[in-house]
Amino acid sequence: MALTILVVNGPNLNMLGTRETDVYGHATLDELIAGVAAHAESRGAVLRHVQSNVEGDLVAAIQTAAADGEGAADGEGAADGVVLNAGALTHYSIALRDAIAAVDVPVVETHLSNVYAREDFRHTSAIAGVCAGVVAGFGATSYLLAVDALIDLLGG
Ligand code: DQA
Repeated sequence: MALTILVVNGPNLNMLGTRETDVYGHATLDELIAGVAAHAESRGAVLRHVQSNVEGDLVAAIQTAAADGEGAADGEGAADGVVLNAGALTHYSIALRDAIAAVDVPVVETHLSNVYAREDFRHTSAIAGVCAGVVAGFGATSYLLAVDALIDLLGG
């Protein structure tokens, strides 16, 4: 059965295309996700996507990803692995960290920009320690690398 990868995008990522284009580029969120979905499909995986500016929605998406508890993505919203760009929540959300730690689904922390080459407050991640790994700094390619990493990790 095809693996299901859930992409979760957090606050302000709905603004891609017009937001700080010198940092995040000109592609819209829809364009970004279309490219990630095509890549996932080329690797035999199914992509789902959710974006929210609300911390609780991201917590719920992580919880729901593990809904069937077996890693097989049968349930509504369930996924085998998660590509998570939590935006600014990355840097301070203990609730998101706890949600990731609570589920048995691998999560890859993902960023368009190289957060370590930016302001000091972006050098801290509240979630990296409970994620399978981190990809940052490659623009849209960060998402493709995260998908590839999850598929390899999941043995797909
Ligand atoms: C981001 C980096 C974060 O520091 C920032 O708050 C974002 C986007 C990125 O994709 O580079 O919203 O996660």
